[in-house]
Order: sequence, then structure tokens, then C-alpha cells
Amino acid sequence: MQISDVNQLFRENDLFSKLTLERLNDIAKFFTLIDFAPGQVVFYEGDSAQAMYIVVSGEVIISRKMGAGQRELKRMLPGDVFGEMALLSDSPRSASAFVKSKSRCLEINKENFFEILDGDRDFERHITQIIIKRIKDTDENANRYILKAYETLLFSLANLTELRDNETGAHLLRVRHYCRLLAEKLSCHPHFESAIDPLFIENIFIVSPMHDIGKVAIPDAVMLKSGKLSDEEVMLMHQHSSAGAGVMKKLMDEIPFPTFAMGYNITMYHHERYDGSGYPSGLKGEKIPLEARIMSLADVFDALLSARIYKPAFSFAKVVNILREERGKQFDPLITDVMLTSIEEFREIYLKYSNPDEIDEISR
Ligand SMILES: [Fe+2]
Ligand SMILES: [Fe+2]
Repeated sequence: MQISDVNQLFRENDLFSKLTLERLNDIAKFFTLIDFAPGQVVFYEGDSAQAMYIVVSGEVIISRKMGAGQRELKRMLPGDVFGEMALLSDSPRSASAFVKSKSRCLEINKENFFEILDGDRDFERHITQIIIKRIKDTDENANRYILKAYETLLFSLANLTELRDNETGAHLLRVRHYCRLLAEKLSCHPHFESAIDPLFIENIFIVSPMHDIGKVAIPDAVMLKSGKLSDEEVMLMHQHSSAGAGVMKKLMDEIPFPTFAMGYNITMYHHERYDGSGYPSGLKGEKIPLEARIMSLADVFDALLSARIYKPAFSFAKVVNILREERGKQFDPLITDVMLTSIEEFREIYLKYSNPDEIDEISR
């Protein structure tokens, strides 16, 4: 391999890209070319860090133990640097590196690496900044992964209610989009802007499909009854909010994320009415948590547009009239106003996430 090829690799890498050609030539002398066979291990998670590497050719997989197996974190391709984090932080390897296909890497050992850093304050500062950024990116990626995992898990859990209810998975998909859109719009409204930040918007998207999770606890005879429910059956049905909130409470106690606290409020209070005549607690006005007031509007809007065991689908115009009539009675008046101002956008969500049969119903 020519020195010019090595220099090219260095120049393309953000760790070394700011160095002069002369300095790069100087540094290149400290690196050694190593060939790895497919399947070979460059280092194991937990090893002490003795060197860092730049991939010249081939592919190296960085992976970490997760539960019983290994999870692939990253694929290192020509030009990529790996093994530098543990080397610089003088900590054990946080992941393993396996060679995927026949690979050639440039290796620099710890002593040599610190020697090239020694006395070069600018280079040292540059490397520190890059490492901090990488740690931050790794952290954000891990957080995103966890968030995606529990979002998917919660949505799958919410879909269980489909087995017990005539509501479809599409209803859950639509309500999460209505809730997010409504929360976004309210975040620009002077009355609500201080209560709604990006986390609120993200959380309501994640937990709104959980609103009826408690229906799994309601007997079939009540859940699937097509005729009018008796007073006793109505009372049983009403218990779905506290049953669902019980599930969220367990999650909340175990993992104190704001997501689950919002999930609790949504499951518990989504049938409260602004005028205080709802259930389970008869909360009135702004005593009803904001997320539950948003949820209630989104849920009822979708239920009115859809055919249910107990009712046909209503036309869009009729639904809009009902929302107007229920402004300040069932629904928070300001939230209703915001929704009505942009009602076409909510209708678009309905159309986008509905199957054609349902769409036929609302175009009447
Ligand atoms: Fe409900
Ligand atoms: Fe619902």
C-alpha cells in the first residue's frame, strides 16, 4: 500500500482531516497494516483497549451483548475508524469487533497514538471534540432505539383490544395521528403553548393508542352486545378506563417515564367530559388532564366517522356539527376550536389511514 493511499484514507476521516500533508506523512509511520480473515475477532467487549483501527478494505462489524445474544451496532467500511473511544477514555471495550469479510486495517497502538497527540494541542482538542460528539450520537442512537422498541411494544399491546372490540387497528393508527396533529397545533396557541413541548407531542403519539387497553378486562357478553346495555352493563363497560389505567400505573411505577404518566392520564380520563358529567371521576374543565381532553376529542371524532356495532358511520358534515354542539359540553371549547379551524387536515388523516369501505361511508 502506497503512502499516498494511506494519506487519502486519513484525509477522508474526520479525526485526521484537518492535519497538514506533512503531519499526515509523519503520523502514517506509526500505523501498521494488518490483514484479517473473515470471522476473525479484532477485539472483544470488556477487553482493555490497546489499539485503534482504520478500515482500508473489507468490512468489520461492531456488536454488543444484549440479553442472550449479540446486537449489531455498526458496520465499519473503508475509511471508518473503530476502537478509538475505549483507547482515548482508557476504559474497557464497550463492544466487540468481528471481521465480516476479508479485511485490511491500519492499526495504531496506544503508546504510538498518545505520542502523536503529545505536544499537538490543536490535534488533541479536535480529537476530543469529535469523541464527545460520537459519545453523544451513540447515546442518542441508543435512546432512539429504546424509544422505538417501547413505542412498538405499546402499539402491539394496544392492538390486543382489537381482539375484544369492533374497533380496528386503523382506529388506533388514526387517533395517534389526530392527537399528534392537535397537540402540535395547540403548542402554538397562547393558552396551551406553555403546557405542550416536543416531548408532550412525541408522548401523546406513543400512548394515545393505549386509551382502551382496559377493554381486555370487560366480559364478552358486554363488549360484543349489539343491543342496548343495561345500567349494570354500562357500569361494567365504564370500568375499562380504570382497568387500563391500572396497567399504565404498573408501568409507571416500574419505569418513571413521563410517557407512562401520560398513558395513565389518557387511559383513566379519556371519558371525562368538560362539563363534569363524564366518568370515572366526573372531573370538570381543566381539572381533566390536557392529554385526556385532546384524546377525548380525537377518539370521538374518529368513532363518529366510523361504523360501530351500535351506530352507522356519520357523514363528515354531521360529525363537524356534533363537535360544534359538544363544544364546552363534552369537549374543551378551545381545543375544539383549534380542531374545527383545521378540520380538513384531520379529515385527511381519516382518509389516509382508512380502508376504502370506511372512506365510502364518510364521502356520503
Ligand atoms: Fe374508552
Ligand atoms: Fe377509541
